[in-house]
Amino acid sequence: MMDSTPPPETQLECFLASCTPVMNGMSSRDKGMARLLSRPSRSSRFDKVIERVNPNASTILDLGCGVGALTIKLAEKFPSSSIVGVDKSKYLLRKLQKKGVASTILADIPNLPVKEDVFDVAVAIQVLHEIVSMKDANALIHTLKQVCNSLRSGGELILFDHVSPGDAPILIRFSNDRLAKLKEFQTKFKHRKVTFQDRGDRLIRISMRDFYDFFTKIWALNTGLEEEEMHETHTPFTRQELRECLLKAGFKVKQALVYNTTPVRPRKGMAVQSKVRLPDRQVILVAGK
Ligand SMILES: C[S@@+](CC[C@H](N)C(=O)[O-])C[C@H]1O[C@@H](n2cnc3c(N)ncnc32)[C@H](O)[C@@H]1O
Repeated sequence: MMDSTPPPETQLECFLASCTPVMNGMSSRDKGMARLLSRPSRSSRFDKVIERVNPNASTILDLGCGVGALTIKLAEKFPSSSIVGVDKSKYLLRKLQKKGVASTILADIPNLPVKEDVFDVAVAIQVLHEIVSMKDANALIHTLKQVCNSLRSGGELILFDHVSPGDAPILIRFSNDRLAKLKEFQTKFKHRKVTFQDRGDRLIRISMRDFYDFFTKIWALNTGLEEEEMHETHTPFTRQELRECLLKAGFKVKQALVYNTTPVRPRKGMAVQSKVRLPDRQVILVAGK
């Protein structure tokens, strides 16, 4: 552990390999995203991640740090560690820079511009699904390899993300209002074609995957984040696919936990009629190099 920590921006040269900044001006998306990421309700997931960070870590990388809600907590918990936040959004990073607790890198994570063997811990909270949403397993493996290379021997990656529940069908009885929302989602979701069957009396047969994306994206309909959310999926990989990609990238999965111990609990207006177990919402995987 380091005894005295230089100011964050002077530490950065210890980590940077090269940097091609991502040009990204402020948009209404950025403002909406900043508000979303600053919600106090997100805090408990950060606590779960921090519990798993090796207390002896002297260097920590926060991948897709956004406004730095987790980064700031990490800096409080590990005051003598050097912490680096990476994000593609200049606007979001600026919010973290103002706090002066971490170095920041404006970059695209699949082209991570950091040196090899420099971090003890990397954390990636709800970012991998965004990175690979429009891509395939190879893109995920490539990204994970970059992260693996940046870790020192014995280093760990802590992942927190959505996972796809798979395509098995499920029967759900919707209220009129929720069914109207599902139809709105069906017309707006651009990532893939969402299909469902109306069996009468608002009883809908839909794949778990389509239901999961609907259920976890209702909030975005008719907001400033609708455009972005309708183009990406929360389900680009299953838990098993994520594990396999970690292995192919050179990691060993040491721990796998479900963050929401209860499965997706349909809100008012959606009652599950199938016997199948609804999917776990989000998982935490700890992977070692
Ligand atoms: C859902 S937010 C999560 C932010 C943060 N980890 C948290 O939990 O508060 C995803 C973040 O990843 C960033 N991001 C998405 N794709 C990225 C990429 N290819 N390179 C760098 N950052 C990316 C977004 O700008 C956004 O800040």
